[in-house]
Amino acid sequence: MKIFVVGAGTMGSGIAQAFLQNEGIEVWLCDQKDEFVNNGIKKIEHGFSLLLKKERITQEQRDERMSYLHPTTNYEDAADADLVIEAIYENMEAKRDIFSQLDVICKDETIFASNTSALSITEMAAGFKHAGNFCGMHFFNPAPVMKLVEIILGFLTTDETKERVLDIAKKIGKEPVTIKEAPGFIVNRILMPMLNEACEILREGIASAEDIDKAMRLGASHSMGPLATADLVGNDITLHIMETLLEETGDPKYRPSILLKQMVRANQLGRKTGKGFFEYPENK
Ligand SMILES: NC(=O)c1ccc[n+]([C@@H]2O[C@H](COP(=O)([O-])OP(=O)(O)OC[C@H]3O[C@@H](n4cnc5c(N)ncnc54)[C@H](O)[C@@H]3O)[C@@H](O)[C@H]2O)c1
Repeated sequence: MKIFVVGAGTMGSGIAQAFLQNEGIEVWLCDQKDEFVNNGIKKIEHGFSLLLKKERITQEQRDERMSYLHPTTNYEDAADADLVIEAIYENMEAKRDIFSQLDVICKDETIFASNTSALSITEMAAGFKHAGNFCGMHFFNPAPVMKLVEIILGFLTTDETKERVLDIAKKIGKEPVTIKEAPGFIVNRILMPMLNEACEILREGIASAEDIDKAMRLGASHSMGPLATADLVGNDITLHIMETLLEETGDPKYRPSILLKQMVRANQLGRKTGKGFFEYPENK
């Protein structure tokens, strides 16, 4: 099986590794510049060195799997791919631009999947020759570890595409769920309003950040509190998804918390900037 991953960032490199960890899968990792592809490859090498350290794989297996990884900056290499997974930044125009090229380059059987967190698969595929081959394949971070993959069925996705993509997800040891296209899919539609509500409780001065998280850990058996989760996801991402939910549904229940907006404006994005609802001095 040949997989072509577009975008070698956090998700693209993680998805590439998730495929590489399985026998007999060739992965092409594509980005705009060699240095971006190399950054992605370094992340995968690091991922495999952790597996090696934990003795989940042997040195020979690691070397063999890495030999199945091919760096590229050329979309033409996707011509005979069985599956293309796009994981570039969250922008409809940019994603459609890539797919408009791949729609012409790839063979008729290629499945086109986007790792989008919230954008419409139907809109992404509209007007393309292979629109029926499009779907969403929403991996979770870190992609090599997280079991769930949300398979998003657009208005034009065929049953054959659905069955093939479910098969592929299972083949790499994931647990897929299928969802008819809807803003936020399942996880983000439930999770993001919860994170947003935790911000509101904090903003209203009802409880401290520590107590909000403690309450949800001990009272709802969550392994991580909502504000620590928001820091992990990134407050900019949470805000963006809330804005998409609000825009797509028009329902005011998805209105982003003012506190969340202020924190994004102040670059308090969470772990990645060293400060969010909690402090991360190691990342400052
Ligand atoms: N980060 C998460 O936790 C997460 C989780 C699930 C889904 N997603 C979704 O995954 C996608 C990627 O997110 P990310 O966090 O990995 O982003 P990122 O910024 O880490 O990586 C994006 C990569 O895409 C590359 N790129 C941009 N334009 C390109 C082009 N035209 N051709 C090839 N490469 C190009 C960039 O150079 C960059 O390396 C987004 O749609 C996001 O919503 C993210």
